[in-house]
Parts: sequence; structure tokens; C-alpha cells
Amino acid sequence: MRKPIIAGNWKMHKTMEEAVDFTEKVKGMVPSSAQVETVICAPFLFLDRLVNDVKRYNVKVGAQTMHYEEQGAYTGEVSPAALKGIGVSHVILGHSERRELYNETDEAVNKKVLSAFQYGLTPIVCVGETLEQWENGETNEHVKSQVTKALQGLSEDQVKSLVIAYEPIWAIGTGKSSTADGAEEVCGHIRQVIESNFSKGAADAVRIQYGGSVKPENIREFMNCPNIDGALVGGASLDPDSFLKLLEASA
Ligand code: G3P
Repeated sequence: MRKPIIAGNWKMHKTMEEAVDFTEKVKGMVPSSAQVETVICAPFLFLDRLVNDVKRYNVKVGAQTMHYEEQGAYTGEVSPAALKGIGVSHVILGHSERRELYNETDEAVNKKVLSAFQYGLTPIVCVGETLEQWENGETNEHVKSQVTKALQGLSEDQVKSLVIAYEPIWAIGTGKSSTADGAEEVCGHIRQVIESNFSKGAADAVRIQYGGSVKPENIREFMNCPNIDGALVGGASLDPDSFLKLLEASA
């Protein structure tokens, strides 16, 4: 049995005051850790404060990206060691916005995934196709290539413990989500890719989220799919009531 995982990706939203207010409202209300794993992926500046605010609750704190080196002359970057040092547990890697806007390559995503494991962080590895690839029927091929490249060099146990987020780019922030059947098909395909690249054990254990315009009104459709184990949520994770509804629907 795979435990559902709901992760909020706040992207570049909220001030410190708003972030603290959010966790105050949410932290005592989240379902138990036996029911659902809850993660908030916030901007770097808020992470230290949020880790401390939620440490006695079933809420984990994640970053939205990181560098793969432990330290060095990389102005503006944040290292995995620094994240681990303040108690961050998860890190989103290869989000389509990082790939598109900051030229993050498959090779860089792979380096970051390997590095995250080295520092004890759980990667949430994002994959997904463009609208054009979707319209041309290239989704499975594209996602297979992204998954294969991102997970190169990992052990079977590492694959079992990571999270993959399937986020069709055309569904992100557009209000136009994939159908549950469409998302299920691609998530099932990702599981097959893991099985052929690693093992059936790894494929059965790895958790796969759907992301792209998930909201309280549609999350149950996705959570009812056998190959979907949770959601990576942008817009609907910003409001405390809406985030709690997503968690309740997944528990
Ligand atoms: O990482 C989550 C994301 O890209 C989906 O965003 O706003 O469509 O839920 P949204």
C-alpha cells in the first residue's frame, strides 16, 4: 500500500507573514501521518521558519529547487546541505517552470536527484509534456525519456523512496486539468518505465502524483485512480481552507 502524498507548491507566492499565517491555520488540522503525507514547498526565505513552526505536526517542508553541489561559487543558489541543515525534507526537482524559464536540463535534474539522496532529501521529480507533444501523441515517449534520464544511476531502494509528479504543462495554472483517465494512463506508463528500468518492486513502491489545476472539486477523481498516489498542487494550495480540503479528500 502506497501512502498518499499531497504537496503544495507555493511557487513565488506569499510574504513571510502570509506564510506563517497559513501554517498557523493549517498545522493542527491536517490528517494523521498514517493517512496522508503532507508537504508544503515554499520559497527558500520561509523554509527555516516553517520547519520550526510545523515540527510537532504532520506537515513536512520542501524546497522548490536546489543546486546539486554542496557549496561553491554559485551566486544566488542554495545547496542541498543548507536545506538539510535546517530540517527541510523534500525538494521539487525538474519542475517545468525551472526547465522552461531557467534552462534546467535532464542532465542537471539527474545530478540534483542524485545529490538530494546524498543529503537525505526526498526528491519530487517533475515530468510532463507540452501541449504540442500532447496533441501529437508524443506524451508517453517524452515522459519515458524524462523519467529515464532523471533517475539514471539511482539504486532500486532510492527509486522506491522518491516521488514522481506527472504534470502536463498545458494543465498547469490554466484551470484545464487532464482527465482522470488521461492522467491515470500516463502514470501507469511511468510505472511501467520504472519496472523496465529498475524492477517490479521499485515500480510498485514509487509514488506518482498528478499535478495541473488540481482543486478540492476534482481531487477525488485523481485519487481514485490506481496509479495516482497524490497531487502536486499550485494555485489551490495557497489558501488554507482549500489546502485542508485537498488533504481531507486524499486521506
Ligand atoms: O507544481 C504544481 C503546479 O505546477 C500545478 O499548478 O496551479 O495548476 O495547480 P496549478
